[in-house]
Amino acid sequence: MTTILEELEARRDIARLGGGQKRIDAQHAKGKLTARERIDLLLDEGSFEEFDMFVAHRATDFGMAESRPSGDGVVTGWGTINGRMVYVFSQDFTVFGGSLSETHAEKICKIMDMAVQNGAPVIGLNDSGGARIQEGVASLAGYAEVFQRNVMASGVVPQISVIMGPCAGGAVYSPAMTDFIFMVKDTSYMFVTGPDVVKTVTNEVVTAEELGGAVTHMRKSSVADGAFENDIEALTEVRRLVDFLPLSNREAPPTRPFFDDPARVDDSLDTLVPDNANTPYDMRELILKIADEGDFYEIQQEFAKNILTGFIRMEGQTVGVVANQPMVLAGCLDIDSSRKAARFVRFCDAFEIPILTLVDVPGFLPGTGQEYGGVIKHGAKLLFAYGEATVPKVTVITRKAYGGAYDVMSSKHLRGDFNYAWPTAEIAVMGAKGAVEILYRSELADAEKIGERTKDYETRFANPFVAAEKGFIDEVILPHSTRRRVCRAFASLRGKQLKNPWKKHDNIPL
Ligand code: HXC
Repeated sequence: MTTILEELEARRDIARLGGGQKRIDAQHAKGKLTARERIDLLLDEGSFEEFDMFVAHRATDFGMAESRPSGDGVVTGWGTINGRMVYVFSQDFTVFGGSLSETHAEKICKIMDMAVQNGAPVIGLNDSGGARIQEGVASLAGYAEVFQRNVMASGVVPQISVIMGPCAGGAVYSPAMTDFIFMVKDTSYMFVTGPDVVKTVTNEVVTAEELGGAVTHMRKSSVADGAFENDIEALTEVRRLVDFLPLSNREAPPTRPFFDDPARVDDSLDTLVPDNANTPYDMRELILKIADEGDFYEIQQEFAKNILTGFIRMEGQTVGVVANQPMVLAGCLDIDSSRKAARFVRFCDAFEIPILTLVDVPGFLPGTGQEYGGVIKHGAKLLFAYGEATVPKVTVITRKAYGGAYDVMSSKHLRGDFNYAWPTAEIAVMGAKGAVEILYRSELADAEKIGERTKDYETRFANPFVAAEKGFIDEVILPHSTRRRVCRAFASLRGKQLKNPWKKHDNIPL
């Protein structure tokens, strides 16, 4: 018996070494942790239960029969994050460069199937040279098996991808179908075709970092939802995100203990909106001041900064926030911000996370760039996402809510449950200047008259009361009491039931 136990330990020790100490040292020299070190940091101490430690590949071509390392380049299993269950796979770059073989894929598929059956998120730590070249089409088939499961798991359990090394070729499409992608700066990259192919086909000279590094995907492509300085920060932040999310679509988002009075007033909010309607202010300040303990987990912080998206808690319950940001492009909606917010709203709705919308929007950004880029279709994504969402929706208009953008931003007409406005709200088809220029074109030469007309328009329309008279605004609230009002609104909506008509699926404008 003792010998068998010793043999098991010896086999485990070998498996834990992955591709060997030399390659582990090389991994560390690049500033990267190993697959197992990453799992240790991601999960609660001692909670990891591993599957398939001894699985080895079945390939024989190219001398592969002589090298069959235990685990086949990916560590899989489940564990807990702050006591809540998650499934995880972590690719081991020290074994064949973390490349994906048939058996490597089978290991990932096994934990994805279990995650869906048992209702827990899947977290993928990606560090791989892509398809295992020696296995050819068997490897491609393995990828497709993973892709299919990504699709099936979408909207059932949260899927989170962390890119911690290379991720190239078709391999990028598994992370692309997950809910969130995080990258590590300087050590990770994602692209469909690498710099060499780009040079051959288009003659462009570009580095891997420029083409698919974290900064590129945060700022330009919006493929990444966040980027972090190193492995440790990335894994710590994923733990923080998981704390906001439900484990599956079968259960409510977590409610955490909170130490912040829901009735807390904040007098500074009464002066947040400047006297001049064209002066910007920081909408992030409002989010931080109404959130429990000022905790805001921002998604896509570096992209389409004219809209803010992320998670907060109110009375301990997770709330998704979408907020126009007047500091950037005056907070207007455009292609990028519409896409960013629409995807976020859909995530929240899929996982029953209530949505708080903070509105200060002068309209859609005009211009040929926007029209040629299809702002009609992209803007419609956000409209569609809000319109189909059945979760509790609370909206606060702080200042401008003009034109179509008023409708889009979770208005009463899109089944907003509570639609509040601050006294500074201006709800109208457009701003006073634009309106007067159209209505009184013949008087434009007469500055005094136009001034009067503008003032008259402002008095009549640049306020929340016309909308409130019609019941489109449920209540005009005092800015300092926003946290209390919003907390009470969400509390009253905890039993909300709303169903859309049966359909196979909708046809959101893609
Ligand atoms: C098998 C691979 C491998 C692969 C790397 N290795 N990629 N083995 N299949 N795809 C092995 C190397 O042979 C090496 O083994 C070890 O991993 C580390 O690789 P290095 O090249 O020494 O490391 P580094 O210099 O850091 O470069 C990493 C890399 C490079 C940029 C990922 O290895 C690379 O370009 N690999 C090929 C990438 C690729 O073209 N993949 C196919 C993409 S197409 P030893 O024994 O020396 O340690 C694809 C299709 C998916 O993925 C389609 C899905 C639909």
